Amino acid sequence: MNYRHIYHAGNFADVLKHAVLARLVTYLQQKEKAFRVLDTHAGIGLYDLSSEEAQKTGEWRDGIGRLLDGDLPAPVAAILEPYLATVRELNPASELTRYPGSPKLVRMLFRPQDRLSAMELHPDDYETLHRLFDGDFQSRITELDGWLALGAHLPPKEKRGLILVDPPFEIEGEYERLADGLAKGYRRFTGGTFCLWYPLKKNAPIKAFHEALKALEIPKMLCAELSVRSDRETTGLSGSGLIIVNPPFTLKGELDVLLPFLKTRLGQDRFASSRCFWLRGEEAATRALD
Ligand SMILES: C[S@@+](CC[C@H](N)C(=O)[O-])C[C@H]1O[C@@H](n2cnc3c(N)ncnc32)[C@H](O)[C@@H]1O
Repeated sequence: MNYRHIYHAGNFADVLKHAVLARLVTYLQQKEKAFRVLDTHAGIGLYDLSSEEAQKTGEWRDGIGRLLDGDLPAPVAAILEPYLATVRELNPASELTRYPGSPKLVRMLFRPQDRLSAMELHPDDYETLHRLFDGDFQSRITELDGWLALGAHLPPKEKRGLILVDPPFEIEGEYERLADGLAKGYRRFTGGTFCLWYPLKKNAPIKAFHEALKALEIPKMLCAELSVRSDRETTGLSGSGLIIVNPPFTLKGELDVLLPFLKTRLGQDRFASSRCFWLRGEEAATRALD
């Protein structure tokens, strides 16, 4: 396990993931009833953008840095409000130095009745995360393989929940594992909202991954992708995607506003692109009938 998220915190992929995560939490809060967020690959929760590691790559400058650099059109500002509220709260002075990872972000948005279960397998990162949430009775931090949690921790006792699966993609076969993980988790909790993250890069098996997901026959599955540059010039990430199972009905419309904006604000060359479509569900079903 070599991956450390501090090198990537706040980059363009985090911006899309965390903006959507915040929307999903906000949506769950439209009902009074408590819910649980299960974060299977949680990271350390809070990132110091002035640290040597974050400064070394400087990736956050082309992510959250660019996003905050300039005004936002009103509809985009409204969509990003819950996400950016957490970033502002962590950085009351004008300088941006602290960035929330997924467990911290959702926790900052919680009401008293909401709960977090977060898994982190890297021993040092687990220690850091555990310390961050020390004494917080709304959060349970576990040093556990997140893939196992998709079986053992579902369904949540609240019967309402959001599951973020955000693996580091440092080993072969991670796309297949992600599809298998969703199959396992969904079988145990069909009413849950699942959010899966995956990288876009040269030769990534995206088509096969999407086909594998479609074969699961989960009725509602939305896909959102943002590429900030051509994949030809780099061996690293050129973009990232999210699969959202059981999305709120408003999410597709919001992404249709947000993604084109992010493409322009975060795009690094003329090949920047974005798309949002139903892998299974509303439009996909309509298309099949045409
Ligand atoms: C992409 S980072 C997570 C970022 C975090 N979700 C966020 O958005 O702020 C992936 C994390 O998964 C951890 N990890 C790797 N394999 C794991 C596993 N099998 N179970 C749980 N955590 C794992 C890594 O140590 C790393 O901290």
